Amino acid sequence: MAAKKRHHAKPAVTGFDLDAFLASSTGLVNTALDGFLPAEKTRPATLHRAMRYSLFAGGKRMRPALVLAAAQACGGRLAEALPLACAVECIHTYSLVHDDLPAMDNDDYRRGKPTNHKVFGEGIAILAGDALLTQAFEIAAQARGWPRYPHRDLMLEIAYAAGSRQLIAGQVADLEGEGRKTSPAQLKYIHERKTSALLCCAARLGGMSANCPPVQLRALTDFGYHVGLAFQVIDDILDVTQTSETLGKTAGKDTRARKATYPAIVGLEQSRKIAAQLTGRAFAALRPFRGRAVALEALAAFLLHRES
Ligand code: IPE
Ligand code: IPE
Ligand code: MG
Ligand code: MG
Ligand code: MG
Repeated sequence: MAAKKRHHAKPAVTGFDLDAFLASSTGLVNTALDGFLPAEKTRPATLHRAMRYSLFAGGKRMRPALVLAAAQACGGRLAEALPLACAVECIHTYSLVHDDLPAMDNDDYRRGKPTNHKVFGEGIAILAGDALLTQAFEIAAQARGWPRYPHRDLMLEIAYAAGSRQLIAGQVADLEGEGRKTSPAQLKYIHERKTSALLCCAARLGGMSANCPPVQLRALTDFGYHVGLAFQVIDDILDVTQTSETLGKTAGKDTRARKATYPAIVGLEQSRKIAAQLTGRAFAALRPFRGRAVALEALAAFLLHRES
């Protein structure tokens, strides 16, 4: 997308307590997820333990926070956005469980703990991922529809973002890009799909749960797309600059696996500039909210400056 003028990331919004917002959104999401998921002892107990192991391993819960912050920006009720926030986190967690498998990124640590397949074995990890993906739709089915966004649209939204043309397409291209010369345009294709699609979907679902007008849905789409791209550029940067301890996953893996990443293709300094520019675009997308999207603004700023 060509910009008429460059937007630069602004400092975090003042007067908004993002820590409190995140503590509250994470608390709401964790309690709701606990209620939605089958108990550990429900048969097959190993599978339910494996699902809960990855889901409650301590993820940052950024996608559900985006759903709730977008709902809030549109004047919606958090309780109505909550099933959608939980559904998105289940899809994200499934994607990580499968991403870490030996046949994919072959990672031993995730969210500060041994990966699912290290604890439960590959077979159960694959099935726990399958079950988390399915669980997401069971949870989303419990959200309410609206005149502008009937229930069917909510389900389609999630299916499209998680499916073979978006998230999975990105994972395919990511695998195929290993060890190959990748152009910046190809890398953008990968990031749009493997990461930005689900963050964009999260922002949109928040708006949809609040029956937002089309102008707000367009703003959230633009915002989520750019925050999502920035998110993966930063993920690539952190893989190079942070320790495994800080990340809760093995650092330096992208270089070793010869992954196509921003630092590998354009260098660290340029990658940082791109992440800031993308975040600037995300801020600019929020203009139609006229200052009422404070939680989204603060989240975008936080994601740019995050260290894990
Ligand atoms: C990691 O996502 C995978 C990417 C798409 C970059 P997060 O950094 O949000 O991982 P958790 O949920 O906090 O573990
Ligand atoms: C993960 O991208 C994207 C999805 C799981 C859809 P990465 O492979 O870069 O994520 P990390 O670095 O393992 O968390
Ligand atoms: Mg990967
Ligand atoms: Mg990975
Ligand atoms: Mg990564």
